[in-house]
Amino acid sequence: MAARLPLAACIVAFHLCLLLSPSSSLRTVVRHGVGIRPAYHFLPAKNWQNGRTGPMYHNGVYHLFYQYNPLGATSGTGNLSWGHSISRDLMNWAALDTALDPTAPFDHNGCWSGSATILPGGVPALLYTGRIDDGRVQVQNIAFPKNPTDPLLRDWVKPAYNPVIPLPADVPGEYFRDPTTAWVGRDGLWRIAIAAKVGGPNGFASTLIYRSNDFRHWKRNDLPLYTSRTANMVECPDLFPVAEPGMEEGRLGYASGTASSAMRHVLKLSVTNTTQDYYVVGRYDDVADTFMPEVDDARSIDDWPTWRRFDYGHVYASKSFFDTRKNRRVLWAWANESDSHNDDIA
Ligand SMILES: *[C@@H]1O[C@H](CO)[C@@H](O)[C@H](O)[C@H]1NC(C)=O
Ligand SMILES: *[C@@H]1O[C@H](CO)[C@@H](O)[C@H](O)[C@H]1NC(C)=O
Ligand SMILES: *[C@@H]1O[C@H](CO)[C@@H](O)[C@H](O)[C@H]1NC(C)=O
Repeated sequence: MAARLPLAACIVAFHLCLLLSPSSSLRTVVRHGVGIRPAYHFLPAKNWQNGRTGPMYHNGVYHLFYQYNPLGATSGTGNLSWGHSISRDLMNWAALDTALDPTAPFDHNGCWSGSATILPGGVPALLYTGRIDDGRVQVQNIAFPKNPTDPLLRDWVKPAYNPVIPLPADVPGEYFRDPTTAWVGRDGLWRIAIAAKVGGPNGFASTLIYRSNDFRHWKRNDLPLYTSRTANMVECPDLFPVAEPGMEEGRLGYASGTASSAMRHVLKLSVTNTTQDYYVVGRYDDVADTFMPEVDDARSIDDWPTWRRFDYGHVYASKSFFDTRKNRRVLWAWANESDSHNDDIA
């Protein structure tokens, strides 16, 4: 995207980057013996998928991970795996075996959404939410490639020291999830954001920040990045800079050589109240790690009901990544079908 585009044009450009769009506009194709499937939008060969998780471009390959139920056409009990497909062009995909399965004590009711971060030295790390205790508790885990020189990164290992972030005392068990891709602040520390309801069952939908110097030990900031006082819970938070003249667009964090505080940022939240994604442009304070929405003409934009949407169809749980091949930020979203549960299992 050009660096000098006005905001309105940037918003259209974000739209162009939306790789999945509502099912009503899906181009479909009938393949012999396969039935009707989207020709362009990503769909696994069979079974349930929901949110994208951990998209990345690494060593010439795009990796798409997604929430996947290997056992059925619905989300079942939520005991989900990370499906894994790869592509060289974001259009033609090859399916690999699942990358993460819920087989460890720290994830045995589901490997839920998360992110990929490429660490210095080029090894990617996956952060993801583990669901435990019959699904009543969520924790954050880490996984690494078993063989970092495998160009397809087929096998992933989960260190026994998981979880790396346990459930905080002021967060109800089922409201702590979706760690973002990490970025580095001016102080050299890693940061991630995690969605959480803070302050008990009637608490506020917060986006917490954790910092680390080794990617293993994480400490929560006193202040959240942002708190929504009118959401039941938010999911899949996403923070990224947008273009200003002379600035490299799309890369988050001080490591990219740009002073984050000087740039406008987008905060995207997936809000459970409506199962829709909302975003707002604002200022990210890269010392305090707080986000303040900007005043937008006369509009009050202090909370998500007044924020903008990327799409007005069934688009939810989006997740972005910085595409270093084309120097752009790409946003992926899950577009769900509008048919019934009975149709899904028919
Ligand atoms: C969840 O699925 C995994 C296989 O992917 C299985 O090993 C595990 O026992 C399941 N968990 C529960 C609680 O059934
Ligand atoms: C979102 O859901 C919560 C819990 O049901 C409710 O208290 C809140 O008013 C809702 N917010 C909006 C803007 O509807
Ligand atoms: C999925 O589709 C149904 C039916 O169209 C809709 O009510 C629901 O909100 C959608 N869920 C998400 C997460 O988009």
